[in-house]
Amino acid sequence: MNSIEIHSARQAYSVVVGSGLLVTAGDKIKEKLPPSRCATISDTNVAPRFLASVQKSLRGVNFDPLPIVVQAGEQSKALEQAGEICEQMLRAGLDRQSFVVGLGGGVIGDLSGFVAAIFERGIPHVQIPTTLLAMVDSSIGGKTGVNARAGKNLIGAFHSPSLVIDDVEVLETLPRRELNQGFAEIIKHAVIIDVEMFRQLEDADPNNVDLAPLIRRNVEIKARIVEKDEHERTGERALLNFGHTIGHGIEHAVDYHGIVHGEAVSLGMVAAAEISMKKAGLPKTECERIVDLLGKFGLPTRLPKDFPRAKIFDALKLDKKFARGEIRFVLAPKIGSATLASDVMFDDIRAALGAL
Ligand SMILES: NC(=O)c1ccc[n+]([C@@H]2O[C@H](COP(=O)([O-])OP(=O)(O)OC[C@H]3O[C@@H](n4cnc5c(N)ncnc54)[C@H](O)[C@@H]3O)[C@@H](O)[C@H]2O)c1
Ligand SMILES: [Zn+2]
Repeated sequence: MNSIEIHSARQAYSVVVGSGLLVTAGDKIKEKLPPSRCATISDTNVAPRFLASVQKSLRGVNFDPLPIVVQAGEQSKALEQAGEICEQMLRAGLDRQSFVVGLGGGVIGDLSGFVAAIFERGIPHVQIPTTLLAMVDSSIGGKTGVNARAGKNLIGAFHSPSLVIDDVEVLETLPRRELNQGFAEIIKHAVIIDVEMFRQLEDADPNNVDLAPLIRRNVEIKARIVEKDEHERTGERALLNFGHTIGHGIEHAVDYHGIVHGEAVSLGMVAAAEISMKKAGLPKTECERIVDLLGKFGLPTRLPKDFPRAKIFDALKLDKKFARGEIRFVLAPKIGSATLASDVMFDDIRAALGAL
């Protein structure tokens, strides 16, 4: 087991990565938080598999956990759901001394973190991510929130966790498509900052990756970026949006149906690599290596023939920042490095989409 320290403006917290950590979660939490009540928030896919052992481990060290299980899926990331959980916690007598444990993927991480941020004006949050994406991405950096009718993640708060526990064993039950979504963000990290990891992934067998060291490395990468620019002011954190501008357009175009986030981001990265060749001097061979690596991890690199391409463009136009010419597009001049460009135009995107 290894621990990574992350420094946020308000507090430092550790991320522990290892195997078989669920059963000792209580001990680890006890090192950070005083004995009290807590809510363990999970979803209908994760709870039957892992909630009992987390509850047992919490009770074993005299925490008094209240289990709360929400429907699996993005629709649970809603203000009404967060409110309902707060009411449930109040009814059960939880108070300002209590804390929240989120056991699940990014949906549960964002929802439980938001509950922790608003319950009694803020109580500690412990994250136990159960998807690869949540381990390497959403559990790091303190962004919490729910979706609004007008768009995703529009209601939320910065609220860093007190502790993150990454148990790689829980990934054994994660469906392959979900695992690959995590790899999309890992490949993104490699492209923007870590050429060495990119090479290792090129050499790796996608069905037999040693996940613990890979997760550790990606937690470090995201942590170091977020530490420099926690509230997205200097542009550093914006580099994490590589592939995401067009990726979001793709998700919008099909109203978030049929294509998952990591797949949309994969396609977005292919388009961003195309634009990087034109605007940032990314060598063609390196662009091809990016496309090949995404394909190797089961991620799409071409849009399906019947995909409503025009709608991607519509979604991007809707982006007001884009309309004002304020969009800063993330380009990769070479593998392992990224910059923000303000000279990427609609036509460049149109051309890149044409190549998808
Ligand atoms: N806060 C941030 O910085 C940040 C960053 C990226 C993404 N996000 C958010 O994260 C969410 C996506 O997260 P996600 O991809 O983890 O989705 P998710 O939480 O919906 O999990 C995906 C699916 O896998 C199931 N699942 C989870 N763990 C499992 C396991 N171990 N075994 C079997 N099934 C399991 C879930 O029930 C769900 O059906 C989105 O809402 C996104 O907005 C937040
Ligand atoms: Zn993403």
